This record gives sequence, structure tokens and C-alpha cells, in this order.
Amino acid sequence: MRVAIVTGSSRGLGASTAIKCAERGIGVVVTYNNNPEKADAVVAAIAATGGTAVALKLDVGDSQSFPAFLDAVKEQLQAVWGRKTFDYLVNNAGYGLFNPIATVTEEQFDGLFNVHLKGPFFLTQALLPLMEDGGHVVNLTSATSRVATAGVAPYAAFKGGLEVLTRYMAKEFGERRIRANSIAPGAIRTELGGGLNGEFEAMLAGQTALGRVGEPEEIGGVIASLLSDENRWINAQNIEVSGGYII
Ligand SMILES: NC(=O)c1ccc[n+]([C@@H]2O[C@H](COP(=O)([O-])OP(=O)(O)OC[C@H]3O[C@@H](n4cnc5c(N)ncnc54)[C@H](OP(=O)(O)O)[C@@H]3O)[C@@H](O)[C@H]2O)c1
Repeated sequence: MRVAIVTGSSRGLGASTAIKCAERGIGVVVTYNNNPEKADAVVAAIAATGGTAVALKLDVGDSQSFPAFLDAVKEQLQAVWGRKTFDYLVNNAGYGLFNPIATVTEEQFDGLFNVHLKGPFFLTQALLPLMEDGGHVVNLTSATSRVATAGVAPYAAFKGGLEVLTRYMAKEFGERRIRANSIAPGAIRTELGGGLNGEFEAMLAGQTALGRVGEPEEIGGVIASLLSDENRWINAQNIEVSGGYII
């Protein structure tokens, strides 16, 4: 059984990705930060449909914790799947923060940097020796790197950096036949940045060609499909999945 590690899969897009991967017969390492019970619910939902998943704690903003996470991954791969390696890494964990450039604090800037750029960089580095040749890294970027939507400058800048990093991963990992792509969602109904209220949702729907916000499964399904062999020639791409956001 192929195995995916999906960071930040206790809720939102990560949870949907974990479930969609399991539907395709992929084993999943679900990770949570503050919500272990939600991660357990994702694991239970996967088990209820005959899939296999485990939940592990991971703070992507704390690179010092990565060696211990690596050990926990090794232990679970062996115990649950009888394997020493895994196949797919989805760097999804993240959070939103609205604050104009004029008032962003250094602490807010560093927090976003650690989770959205430094974390995916060093987590991928740490997990690379365990990734099977022919594997795949998927990074979650954002349509906010293509269009400027006021109030999310550091977030969007680091997502832009992650998009560039994705191409470098594809270049450097290619000799091991490991692909790297990024998925850039538009506005999707999750709890990111405090979630959607009526007025905010109406504004985002109005900015989207298809006239609504997206649902998490409309991202999770794309990621699960991208991992599959039928899409094996897609590499080094940033793929926007947004229903046509601000075009
Ligand atoms: N929703 C959108 O419209 C949208 C658009 C563009 C890009 N994205 C990107 O898509 C990804 C997922 O977002 P989402 O909308 O699904 O957000 P969400 O519903 O708020 O879920 C965030 C997930 O990330 C985890 N997480 C947060 N901080 C973490 C940290 N420091 N270390 C490890 N895990 C952490 C959370 O874990 P706990 O709950 O366990 O703490 C949770 O599972 C993010 O990278 C986001 O930037 C989302």
C-alpha cells in the first residue's frame, strides 16, 4: 500500500486530502497541531470505509521538533504498513492572518514564515531519506500570490516563495524520479483565517468566475488525483484550483 503524509490534516483541505487519498487506496499519516480529536475523527472516517490511517502530532512552525516527528513516522510506517519508506508528502498545514503591511509585527511575520516556508523546506529535507524513489511532494500555495488581496502580504509572499521552492524541489529531486508540484487554491470554505462570514463569502463568490467559493473536497480530490500514476507526467507546476478567482 502506498502511503502519504498530509500535514495539517485534522481539518479543512488537509482532512479532505487525507480522505480522498484513502478512497484511492493510499494509507495516510494524518498530522494535527492543536486538535488531536479532529485528527482522530479523520482517522476513524478513513477506517470506517476500509482505509488505513494514523494520527501524529506535528508543529510545522517548530523545525526543532522534526527529528522526533521523523522517528514517530518511522515507527508508524513499520507498525501499520510494514514499511521503512513512504511515497507522498503533502505540505498543507497553515494558517491565515489579516493585517496590513503598515501594522504587521515582526512576530506575526516570523510566525507565518516559519509555517509557510521554513517549515515545508526543512520538513521535506528531514523526510526525504524516507521517501520512496518515484514519490511526490505537493505544496499548498495560494491564488493570493498571483493577485494582491490587501491584508495578507507576508502570507502571500511566503506562498510565492513556496511556489518557487516547488520548482527547485522538482529540479533537485528529479534524479530520484520524485515529482514536486504545488496546488494554489482560491477561496475555499474552511476555517482558515477565522473562516467565512456571509458578507466575506459573498465578496469572494463575486470575485470568482463560477460565482461561489469552493468546497474542501474540490481541493482534496485534485491532490489525490495529482498523486496518482495517471498524472505522472505533471511536474514542477503551480496549479491554481480556484473556480477562476479574480481573472
Ligand atoms: N481555504 C482557503 O481558501 C485556502 C486558500 C489558499 C491556500 N490555502 C492553504 O491551504 C492550506 C490548508 O488551509 P485550510 O483552509 O484547510 O486551513 P484550516 O481549515 O484552518 O486548517 C488548517 C490545518 O493546518 C493545521 N495547522 C495550523 N498551523 C499548524 C502548525 N503550526 N503546524 C502544524 N499544523 C498546523 C491545523 O491543525 P490543528 O487544527 O490540529 O491545529 C489544521 O489541520 C494552508 O496552507 C492554507 O494556507 C487555503
